[in-house]
Amino acid sequence: MASVDVDVRKVSILGKESIHCGFHLVPYIVKTVTATLPSSTYVLITDTHVGSLHLPAFQTEFSRAQTNSRFLSYVVSPGETSKSRECKAEIEDFLLLNKCTRDTVILALGGGVIGDLVGFVAATFMRGVRFVQIPTTLLAMVDSSVGGKTAIDTPHGKNLIGAFWQPEYIFIDAAFLETLPAREFSNGMAEVIKTAAIWNEKEFAALESRAAEIFAAIQTPSTNFAGRTESTRSAAQELLLSVIAGSIGVKAHIVTIDERETGLRNLVNFGHTIGHAIEAVLTPAMLHGECVAVGMVLEAEVARSLGILSQVAVGRLTRVLKAYNLPVSLSDPRIASLPAARGLSVTKLLDIMRIDKKNSGAQKKIVLLSRIGATYEQKATVVDDAVIAKTLSDAVKIVPGTPSKSPIRMATPGSKSISNRALLLAALGSGTCRLRNLLHSDDTQVMMNALVELKGATFDWEDGGETLVVSGGGGALSVPKDNKEIYLGNAGTAARFLTTVCTLVGAANVEQRTIITGNARMKQRPIGPLVEALRANGSTIDYIESQGCLPLSIAPAGLKGSHIRLAASVSSQYVSSILLCAPYATESVTLELTGGQVISQPYIDMTIAMMKTFGVVVERLTDSETGQPLDVYRIPKGTYTNPAVYNIESDASSATYPLAIAAITGTTCTIENIGYGSLQGDARFAKEVLEPMGCEVVQTETETTVTGPPVGQLRAIGLVDMEPMTDAFLTASVLAAVATRPPKDGRVLKDGSKPTTTRIIGIANQRVKECNRIKAMIDELAKLGVETSELDDGLEVYGKPLAELKEGASVHCYDDHRVAMAFSVLGSVVKDTIIEEKRCVEKTWPNWWDDLLNKIGLDVEGVELSSVQGLASASRLVEDSSRASVILIGMRGSGKTFIGELAANALGWQFIDADVVFEKKHPIGVRQFVQQNGWPAFREEETAILQELLAQHGEGHVISLGGGIVETPAARDLLKAYTKKGPVVHIVREIDEVITYLGEETARPAYGEPVIDVFKRREPWFAECCSHEFVNYTGVLNSIEASVEDDSKLAPSVLSVRDEVFRFFQHITGLQPNLAPNLTNGRRSYFLCLTYPDITLALPHIEKMTAGVDAVEVRVDLLRSSKDYDKLGPYIPPTAYVTEQIAALRHKTTLPLIFTVRTASQGGQFPDHAEKEAFELFVTAIRLGVEYIDVEISWSEKNIRNLIAGKGHSQIIASWHDWSGNMRWDSKALDEKYGVAREYGDIVKIVGKANRLEDNFALHNFVLRQRATSDAKPIIAINMGVEGQMSRILNSTFSPVTHNLLPTKAAPGQLTFAQIQTALHLLGQLPAKKFYLFGTPIAHSMSPTLHNTAFEVLGLPHKYELFETETVGDEIRAAIAAPNFGGASVTIPFKRDIIPLLDRLSPDAEAIGAVNTVIPVLTADGAVQLVGENTDWRGITHSIRRSLPPSVLKPEAALIIGAGGTSRAAIYALWKLGIETIYLFNRTASSAHALVNAFPDVNIKFIAALGAWPDNGPAPTVIVSTVPASATSLDSSNSDAILLTKSLFSAPTGGVVIDMAYKPAETPLLVLARNTGAQWRRVKGVEVLLEQGYHQLHLWTGRQAPKTIVAERVWTAYSS
Ligand SMILES: NC(=O)c1ccc[n+]([C@@H]2O[C@H](COP(=O)([O-])OP(=O)(O)OC[C@H]3O[C@@H](n4cnc5c(N)ncnc54)[C@H](O)[C@@H]3O)[C@@H](O)[C@H]2O)c1
Ligand SMILES: [Zn+2]
Repeated sequence: MASVDVDVRKVSILGKESIHCGFHLVPYIVKTVTATLPSSTYVLITDTHVGSLHLPAFQTEFSRAQTNSRFLSYVVSPGETSKSRECKAEIEDFLLLNKCTRDTVILALGGGVIGDLVGFVAATFMRGVRFVQIPTTLLAMVDSSVGGKTAIDTPHGKNLIGAFWQPEYIFIDAAFLETLPAREFSNGMAEVIKTAAIWNEKEFAALESRAAEIFAAIQTPSTNFAGRTESTRSAAQELLLSVIAGSIGVKAHIVTIDERETGLRNLVNFGHTIGHAIEAVLTPAMLHGECVAVGMVLEAEVARSLGILSQVAVGRLTRVLKAYNLPVSLSDPRIASLPAARGLSVTKLLDIMRIDKKNSGAQKKIVLLSRIGATYEQKATVVDDAVIAKTLSDAVKIVPGTPSKSPIRMATPGSKSISNRALLLAALGSGTCRLRNLLHSDDTQVMMNALVELKGATFDWEDGGETLVVSGGGGALSVPKDNKEIYLGNAGTAARFLTTVCTLVGAANVEQRTIITGNARMKQRPIGPLVEALRANGSTIDYIESQGCLPLSIAPAGLKGSHIRLAASVSSQYVSSILLCAPYATESVTLELTGGQVISQPYIDMTIAMMKTFGVVVERLTDSETGQPLDVYRIPKGTYTNPAVYNIESDASSATYPLAIAAITGTTCTIENIGYGSLQGDARFAKEVLEPMGCEVVQTETETTVTGPPVGQLRAIGLVDMEPMTDAFLTASVLAAVATRPPKDGRVLKDGSKPTTTRIIGIANQRVKECNRIKAMIDELAKLGVETSELDDGLEVYGKPLAELKEGASVHCYDDHRVAMAFSVLGSVVKDTIIEEKRCVEKTWPNWWDDLLNKIGLDVEGVELSSVQGLASASRLVEDSSRASVILIGMRGSGKTFIGELAANALGWQFIDADVVFEKKHPIGVRQFVQQNGWPAFREEETAILQELLAQHGEGHVISLGGGIVETPAARDLLKAYTKKGPVVHIVREIDEVITYLGEETARPAYGEPVIDVFKRREPWFAECCSHEFVNYTGVLNSIEASVEDDSKLAPSVLSVRDEVFRFFQHITGLQPNLAPNLTNGRRSYFLCLTYPDITLALPHIEKMTAGVDAVEVRVDLLRSSKDYDKLGPYIPPTAYVTEQIAALRHKTTLPLIFTVRTASQGGQFPDHAEKEAFELFVTAIRLGVEYIDVEISWSEKNIRNLIAGKGHSQIIASWHDWSGNMRWDSKALDEKYGVAREYGDIVKIVGKANRLEDNFALHNFVLRQRATSDAKPIIAINMGVEGQMSRILNSTFSPVTHNLLPTKAAPGQLTFAQIQTALHLLGQLPAKKFYLFGTPIAHSMSPTLHNTAFEVLGLPHKYELFETETVGDEIRAAIAAPNFGGASVTIPFKRDIIPLLDRLSPDAEAIGAVNTVIPVLTADGAVQLVGENTDWRGITHSIRRSLPPSVLKPEAALIIGAGGTSRAAIYALWKLGIETIYLFNRTASSAHALVNAFPDVNIKFIAALGAWPDNGPAPTVIVSTVPASATSLDSSNSDAILLTKSLFSAPTGGVVIDMAYKPAETPLLVLARNTGAQWRRVKGVEVLLEQGYHQLHLWTGRQAPKTIVAERVWTAYSS
């Protein structure tokens, strides 16, 4: 065997040096294993990724080793799904098949998945065999391979089955990392950082400062096995290896002490308590390490809020994680954009944590850091739920009260500008300087790293990170070793300051250069003016990439000095950069600023003042004539002298908040580090704002103390110019809001303003800060009821007594730290003020909320804004049914009033017509108003009314607006904003119809221009302002509804616009989303695929074709408008055409629609790359209220997520089609597709192709496996092709079906609904049931014809029979108890007698007091319950809704003739329809009165004579007769019968008349109605019978009846 020269670093674990680390170790591994673990068989197991990269090397080495042993290898699919029982079994079968015995040695080559899986195989194979870990991911190297934990997953959870099984060796070959994807590398770094954070501050500091190098080490492939020996190892490799070995060392040490995790080993779970909970929600989209990274920050914040950990430490942790590309909060876009992120509610996370293995009982445990490198306890610590909840929640509220720590003494975080300058001064100075109160930021971190590289200074942390000890280098700097680049990330101030610093580097070797670079963003930020000034001064600086930006290459030649000219109108930081370095120039510097207006002079002054503290005095020259200061500075040569301690001034803007809290709560607060000597303008706040407001202010050079007046006693200020302290105006505004005492003398405003006015000016620049702060303050103060007005350069705030401020306001912070902190001040006195985005304080005061609690003494509580965060806020409509009013817009004449009334009726809401409101306000009417005041005034008034309506009737109303409302931008903005809250529905009607309609109307002023022009102008505005479109498809309606000759026999397939309005508005408001109930109730569900290029061709047959199905799919990609009929191949149908098609279909079926745009590559006709067009169509579908949208998961993630965000109450079917025949249902690849689809979809659809019958079994197993998981979604899984038909039969969710009447099948192998039912029956999945009619006499009943026809057409194996008995007795008892009992109809005289035999009644049957339907219902425990229902009333409501003429918007009154059993159902039906007055006529008054009494909630008026309506009430528009035909007559001489006269039909609008009597077909009542006039629609008894029968069938089978065919057969039977 050839010997290999290798240097490995060994780490010991559990007393053995079994961890060997190095580079390019494969030969060494094989040599060591074969030499020390002799065996007959070596088996290497890996995954396909790793195998394809690294297996050959092992094969080569083993064959070279020339042992007598066998070398076998086995490769599994990559990914977490391989950690399964199935995969374990596969490997075991492989081992057994290959006759592996007890002496086998198994090598696990791969990431944590392979390590865990193979380790567990080794642990149990032959009761345990030897194994070796060869981790190839960073995570596996530093974490999973070390410690002996092995495990697999089950659908119930991760790692639930496993064993402790220690490997013989762990070989860490860091060269494997060179092929690892960067994201996986970062994933592992999370664990490395974790280990350093709990154990080793030095390691942590190395990780902080050397991130760029560490990344570089894995990104530069080593050639020629470089690194195998120490002599060939690069510095980067050495660093990488020491990081890995260091991290392993810690874990190995901990494992050695506590192998079975009883205490100390707990510590490695830092970040994991919260991290695991996050992972449980986000997996597989986010990786373990990524979730743990967020978990670590959150857990560190828990420690911070308990007062255990400093903000500096939290900041360092956050920054180092960021440096390795890891997310640090749940609002990271990588997380927030995931659909699964919606599940990240605080409650959900706490819930998941409840079952954490580390918990002790119900108490949660978290590893608390006490500083970087150490933990609070040597184990996890019990933490209160409330503390965790507070940390996790996005919003907070302060518990108002007196700050318990008053008198308060505190320092606010150091000023950022001062921190950056102090750090550089101390580093360039000589001697040691202790920097206190440093604001540790990206800039300071980067500058520290760079100064260390340049050997300019050294740094140490003291006091647990509170103090930074700088040992200054006195200005001596050298070029970084080995041409190392200085990486500055995106730290802007650091880049500017360091550019000049690099020119100071002395000339040692002319060849060398200092290179500074940054991330991509940094490489775009300008630095040109500074570089030009330095170049002009003689420095050699080259741009390496783009001109004017980093990276720079700087020659080490020292700074020449003398005269330097700098263009200073861009950034004062260029000036400070040169000033700070100037003393070290070869000649003393005169700095001349050119280019006009110098920007931010106060920062230049700050730099000069600080230089003075460090011993260098800068002179600013003045104009000898005017004495005015010039922009010229003279800086003497010299070295900074470090003071022993430098207290960094607190940030003065931040200081305003605690001081304001003292002011508003009447307590005392002292801020250290800010006094009258302050360098910052905002330090004046105490004297210039708080003192005039009535506070006592004591200011020394370095301290400020404020004592507030008693609560409620603040004074308004009058006028205050805040120009020198603009950032503090927000604090002033919140105080002014409660300042009710008049200003001090001399400050009173003389212009008649209210005495409580505070007028803040000089702050115009605040409009362009993080947000428009002036507007933000105005809007958010308004939420608390505070009035303000905006000024050109400021605002006025009108103080209000504290008690009158609104409690419970939810303050939006615009992601602006100052808004959040300012409103905290009000939150300390106004109850339940919610600050919505607590994290925005991170910019300047990350621990503000903790300081409020720990330093000021005000309790802070977490608030969970809503469990549906992120996406929900982006979603147009709130998830649950919302009562937000519906707004209707559209052209005049489009039918807004008509639709609006119907919609209000459907929703049970009030209808408001804005025009009517206008006329109430302006009785002269619109026409005259416009004549008198002109259009603009009218539009303005119209908009004002809209605003009022929204304010007063924001819920529970349908509001119709004038057609011109969209003419003004203001109104359009209002509407657009409203779509975020509730639906704005554009009523669309063909323009020809509108014109015809308008021709007949005169109430409105004429447009003065052709209607068509108005239409063209407004059309885009309507589209832009609406969230939905309702197509008032009058063309077809008129042609069908109005042309029905014999109105008594409306074809059942004709729907009225009423049905469509019901469906549409109940769906879009979420009141009753029109989703298929069978999808959720455990029944099989089906959809019909429409494959027409023009759906209108199918409309006459739609009802027949949809019999039995739950939904209708529109294959949008197959639609072709007639002019494009002959276009073949991929095609994009125009949106207008699609809209028209959907609208037409909508008038034929209320079944949910599925909107499918199938691309060419997935078997459809839509172009594969027309993504934009596809999503435009999807959005159209959502606007039209289409219920299901089929979205292919191959579209781009961004578009899909956007679509989901706006889907409202529609559902997404996330689909994947693979027709190739190569897709395997048991492949991991498919599991991944499923994972993606499950994330996006409410329903998952996966379609493959079967080559043989067995492929259907694989499909079936796949479905069962997915269904067993906890977050399973309904799944449509189908195999194409004839061989796949089996899958179509067994599929249970939304099986696609075809119909004989369709031109072509949508897909090969498709079956009809009836065929599938037959097949299910034959497979024993659909047993035949018996159904009965109970009653007597029933020989002539139509029910058997009705139901048996339906069963036959639907392919159901059931039978319906007459069951005539004298009484309800034993025979009936036996029938309903039989196992094959499917259900029964009940008729006279048993409708009440049957009740005692039933287990329960439906609420409707209960209310009516009669049962006509018996349904056997299977309960959860498998027993059968008999439920009594009543469908008679449904037959009546349905008939009325369908037949009511459009002239009757909402029936006000109805008449019932007769007071028998059927009348009960009729009363109930009319009441359900919302008819307010019901007249009841019956010959015997007593039974009528009994009925009146039986329905106390219904307004029933007994009438003694027909034709006269009591109290001058309205004439009925609905008439229902329940008496036999023979009991009525048109002949006044027939005194035995009720005389019917034309006076019954006096309602001018006409209406609907129903005769429940079913023989003869033409009863006297119907004859009379026919002769009365066309406005009266007539409904025959048989029709009601049919309607109630359809409902019965639906209750029994869950299927829609084939109405047309059933009706035809019943009419035939009836007529014969
Ligand atoms: N046993 C323990 O103590 C422990 C600790 C932590 C994590 N884990 C487990 O570890 C698993 C995660 O491990 P992981 O993050 O290594 O995931 P992994 O094993 O799935 O590897 C990640 C991906 O990288 C690929 N890959 C691996 N090495 C590669 C290389 N050198 N070059 C190119 N590609 C490579 C893999 O094929 C895979 O696609 C989880 O199942 C987790 O439960 C176990
Ligand atoms: Zn972990």
